[in-house]
Amino acid sequence: MEFYTMEQYQESAQALKEKLGGFQPKVLLILGSGLGFLGDEVENPIVVPYSQVPHMKFSTAPGHKGQFVFGRLGGQDVAVMQGRLHTYEGWSFADVSYPVRVLRLLGADTLLVTNAAGAVNEHFSAGDIMLITDHIKLFGVSPLCGPNVEAFGPRFPDVSHVFTPRLQEVARKAAASLDLGLREGVYMYFPGPQFETPAEVRMARILGADAVGMSTVPECIVAAHCSMQVLGLTLCTNMAAGILPQPLSGEEVMEIAARSSQKFSALVRACLETM
Ligand code: HPA
Repeated sequence: MEFYTMEQYQESAQALKEKLGGFQPKVLLILGSGLGFLGDEVENPIVVPYSQVPHMKFSTAPGHKGQFVFGRLGGQDVAVMQGRLHTYEGWSFADVSYPVRVLRLLGADTLLVTNAAGAVNEHFSAGDIMLITDHIKLFGVSPLCGPNVEAFGPRFPDVSHVFTPRLQEVARKAAASLDLGLREGVYMYFPGPQFETPAEVRMARILGADAVGMSTVPECIVAAHCSMQVLGLTLCTNMAAGILPQPLSGEEVMEIAARSSQKFSALVRACLETM
C-alpha cells in the first residue's frame, strides 16, 4: 500500500497557494452527483484543475468535473471540489481523502460534503434530503492506515462526533427556514460501483443504516482526524435495492439528483450562510 507524506501534502498546498493570491479558504465543499453546478455560482472564482495539483488524482465519474473552485459562496470563503474522487474509480482511500489534508494545510477548518445515496430507511422517499448524524464503514482499510502523520492528528483518533453537533443544528435550522423536510440518519459506505444487493440492503438496515452510498466516509474520517468540523448532507436519489420492484440505474440517480438540485443547493447555501 502506498502512503502520502507530509512533504507531498505540503507540495500540493504550496502549488495551490501560488494560484490563490492570498485567498484563504475556510470551508471545503465536496459536491456529489448533481450539485456540481454550485461551483459555477462561486463569486470571484479561481479555478484549478486537479491535474495542476501535484500528487492529486483526478475524477472520472459522470458529472464530476475534476476541478477546485476557490472564492465566495454563501458568505464564506470556500474551496469547492467540483467532482470528488471515488474508490470505485480505482483510487485508494488515501487518494480519495488527499485533498482534505491539503485544504487543511491551506487553513480550511470545516468540511461540508454532499452525496447521492440510496434510502435504506423505508420511511424515506426518493428525493428526500438526509442530514448525516453518523456513519458505518465496514469495507476496506481506513484512510488513516499507514504511518500516522502526527501533525494532522493522533494515531487512534476518537470518532464519536465525526459530524459536528453544532453544524447538525445549523442544518436543521437552515432546513426549517426553507420549510424543507430534513431526514436524519446513518450513512453506510459501500465500495460500488455495483449498487448493493437486496440482501446487502437488508443487512445495512439491521446494522442501523438509513442510507447507502459509495463516497463521503473516507473524506469525513480524515477531516475528523485533523480536527475539522464536518457537515454531511445526503440526497436520497432512490430507494435502495430490493425495496421497490424496479431495478436501479445510474441514469435514474442523475435524473433525481438534477430534479432535486434546486432545493438541495438552497439548503447548502443556507447552511453556509449560518454556519
Ligand atoms: N447505492 C449506492 N450509492 C448510491 C445509490 C444506491 O442506491 N443511489 C445513489 N448512490
